Amino acid sequence: MNAPPFPSPRQLETSLRLLELLADGRFHSGEALGGALGMGRGGVWRVVRDIGNLGFEVHGVTGKGYRLAEPLELLAEERIRAAMVPHDGPALRQLHVLPTVDSTNRWLMGRALSGGTAPAAVVSEHQSGGRGRRGRVWVSPFGQNLYLSLLWYFEDMDHSLPACSLAVAVAVARALGVLGVGDVGLKWPNDVHWRGRKLAGMLLELVGEAAGPYKVVMGVGVNVNMVAADIDQPWTSLRGVTGQAWDRNRVAACLLQEILSGVARFQREGMASCQADWDALDLTRGRRVTVHLADGAVEGTALGTDGDGALRLRTGQGVQHFHAGEVSLRVAR
Ligand code: BTN
Repeated sequence: MNAPPFPSPRQLETSLRLLELLADGRFHSGEALGGALGMGRGGVWRVVRDIGNLGFEVHGVTGKGYRLAEPLELLAEERIRAAMVPHDGPALRQLHVLPTVDSTNRWLMGRALSGGTAPAAVVSEHQSGGRGRRGRVWVSPFGQNLYLSLLWYFEDMDHSLPACSLAVAVAVARALGVLGVGDVGLKWPNDVHWRGRKLAGMLLELVGEAAGPYKVVMGVGVNVNMVAADIDQPWTSLRGVTGQAWDRNRVAACLLQEILSGVARFQREGMASCQADWDALDLTRGRRVTVHLADGAVEGTALGTDGDGALRLRTGQGVQHFHAGEVSLRVAR
């Protein structure tokens, strides 16, 4: 069955206002909602239908009005900033919160190209063209998960981009640890797994400019409250792991503080800043794996990573190093 059409920007704005009014999970009369939105009961009914199309369950009861099946916390800059605790990374200069965007990575790359400040971050309630690694789509329904990108300027790129993406993966795993989520592991180069199911992924992109600092956009997608989705690999969400709904502002705050401090340490020390943590979280080390390349596949035993973040593999030809972006990896069954 085809998904219902995503609302127009104007419809989305009204839907967001209704979601804010219903966020407490209590009943609100159609009359009160209509008064707040400046429309009649029929108009309210249509907006209720729109938020149903966004994936929210709304209960309508005669004489009581409407309520969300469960309370909702929309993303908000002040809530994210308030939930961040002091850390040893740089201050976040800008934090943008969007209702919808094609891709937070693409949006932030555009800001970087027009000279935007850094570190800057963007989160969005929805992505219409969420990008995964190797050209895949990142499933990004409205209001359920976290789609976050952080822009960072490196004056000198002393350390490799693949190593940086491992440092971000370690920072995300640390954030999950701070939030109390156990059993998290990393599958090279930067898939975050929980008991064999994908929980989060990262996509680092270099902004193409000949001169000036290296501008890197670090995109992180974390499945937070999603319970159903058409995804062609085993996956889970924080809700799936813990059985409870999560406040996405708190998750965003924790991710940002850990990534800001993790990348600052990486800038000073390179892979040494996170090697021990990577080794402890590495799900493939010592296991037989298959590395899939554009023109074939290589099998071997994973030996961990080198100082550039490349995967070391013992093969029939000796130890080979594979770099992110050129290879993918599947744990052999
Ligand atoms: C992967 O594991 O394939 C990488 C997924 C990266 C998804 C995030 S969501 C926020 C940011 N914006 C995007 O379009 N992609 C990244």
